[in-house]
Amino acid sequence: MQTVTINTLNALKEKGTKFPVITAYDASFSRLVEHAGIEVVLVGDSLGNVIQGHSSTVPVSMDDMIYHVQAVCRGNNKSLIIADLPFMAYATEEQTMENAALLMQAGAHMVKLEGGAWLEESVLMLSERGIPVCGHLGLTPQSVNKFGGYKVQGRTSEAAEQMIQDALLLEQAGIDILVLECVPTPLASKIARELDIPVIGIGAGPDTDAQVLVIYDILGLSPHQPKFAKNFLQDTGNIESALKTYADEVRSGAFPTTEHGFKS
Ligand code: KIV
Repeated sequence: MQTVTINTLNALKEKGTKFPVITAYDASFSRLVEHAGIEVVLVGDSLGNVIQGHSSTVPVSMDDMIYHVQAVCRGNNKSLIIADLPFMAYATEEQTMENAALLMQAGAHMVKLEGGAWLEESVLMLSERGIPVCGHLGLTPQSVNKFGGYKVQGRTSEAAEQMIQDALLLEQAGIDILVLECVPTPLASKIARELDIPVIGIGAGPDTDAQVLVIYDILGLSPHQPKFAKNFLQDTGNIESALKTYADEVRSGAFPTTEHGFKS
């Protein structure tokens, strides 16, 4: 695999070629992800769940994120590495700038933040200062307490319309990529079609430009397998093949299918 940049991902969207994204939290898995030719690694704050054993991502700190971003970057020279800004690390514009800079200095190539229109100014500021940004709409796990649980978002026509407007506004403000999590398939399809930037789905059905999963879910290590995930280890028998099969199935469109998505 050639070194992946934002231009690589934009070219894939333009050609209509889907690409795989996977989370990683340490150098060893990151190295395997690079060897599997997976274009994008997300150092997700899901590390709060799968590494630290918390029931949400809320306890994850900037120090935690910096530690894991540095480890992931040491193991991988080719994939594009996105780092999550954790809970309350971007509550103000000043915090956003400082903390995004720390993640970039730790080795990330892009930062990700969760939310809609309220992030417009922050996205604009980051983008103007040369920091690539990934947006995240739908089920944004840092807001789990506000949602009252891990629930599919965008099911009413008002909520769906709001999400479309948020996506367009964030694109206008300068996000380079958008993650849609647990969003009904027709809504995710519409947003992916309307945006020029790549849209990455998780629990968003088969029609987004790319797919992201938590690495422990594809290896069957999570105590509860989400409906939108698939255990790629059970049929392949080793981690390298599981990662390659995940990547192949995302590129060919074999995964995800409608059964991995949600109805309106
Ligand atoms: O933290 C994470 O791993 C994420 C993905 C599930 C999209 O945000």
